[in-house]
Amino acid sequence: MNPHDSWAHVYDLVNQESFGTLYTRLCSDTNHLCQQLCQQSPAGRGTCSILDIGAGTGRTAIPLAQQGHRVTAVEPSVPMCEEIRRKAAGKDFEKNLTIVSERIQDYQAKENAYGLALCLFTVIAYITTENDLTRTIQTISRTLKSGGLFLLDIPQIELFRPDQSYQTQQLQRKVHIARQLNEENLYFYEENAQITIGQKTIRYTDSFLLRRWSDEEIINLCENNGLISQEDQNQFLRERFGWTGAAYYLFRKT
Ligand SMILES: C[S@@+](CC[C@H](N)C(=O)[O-])C[C@H]1O[C@@H](n2cnc3c(N)ncnc32)[C@H](O)[C@@H]1O
Repeated sequence: MNPHDSWAHVYDLVNQESFGTLYTRLCSDTNHLCQQLCQQSPAGRGTCSILDIGAGTGRTAIPLAQQGHRVTAVEPSVPMCEEIRRKAAGKDFEKNLTIVSERIQDYQAKENAYGLALCLFTVIAYITTENDLTRTIQTISRTLKSGGLFLLDIPQIELFRPDQSYQTQQLQRKVHIARQLNEENLYFYEENAQITIGQKTIRYTDSFLLRRWSDEEIINLCENNGLISQEDQNQFLRERFGWTGAAYYLFRKT
């Protein structure tokens, strides 16, 4: 089982119910930012070739494909991939989407293929070993064109708080996060929830490991692999997305 397999079909609704207008704002700000980055990528004002890592149900992949960009969504959870497929089925933009059901560290990406790579909404924390993180960053660097951009968010300590509970008329959701003994930055994530849609109540459980990478670990690894932190834009990203509990960083391939 991959993370979120058990609730992929209600993933969007659960997030919308859990975070309400903040989730709406995050989706709209993220899409706006990605559009701007496409214009700064090697494609310039044309359509961009985008790698969306851990694409989930297509929160960023779908709107970018709708805008005419070519998006490859790499997502290990088959049920999450099915959600992307379902949203695109029979639509004009379906041809702009390629869906790869794989972990990013195993993905055999073409060299110099993408103008923009995205790793958004805490995806980096699902990569839990140094070896897998290194393979991930190497893959991103190899597959970006020269001048291509890499946008990621790094979850900060507040997103690993032990108990989180969300309750609306439709949703009852409890998240428990426990630090693993002997492993300072490794956490066991577990959630139990039920969501009501019409007359139907859906219950699910989910559990997996997460790692809290420090900003420095990620920045150093990126810079050692030819991905240069864009300090001028990172200050702006901190101001715009600081409220999310994750630090957003932009890198450009040399
Ligand atoms: C919190 S979701 C974020 C989904 C999406 N990026 C978004 O913004 O809504 C994290 C996603 O990362 C995916 N994931 C987990 N491990 C991964 C890996 N090794 N490579 C690529 N994606 C992974 C999960 O399956 C899940 O869909």
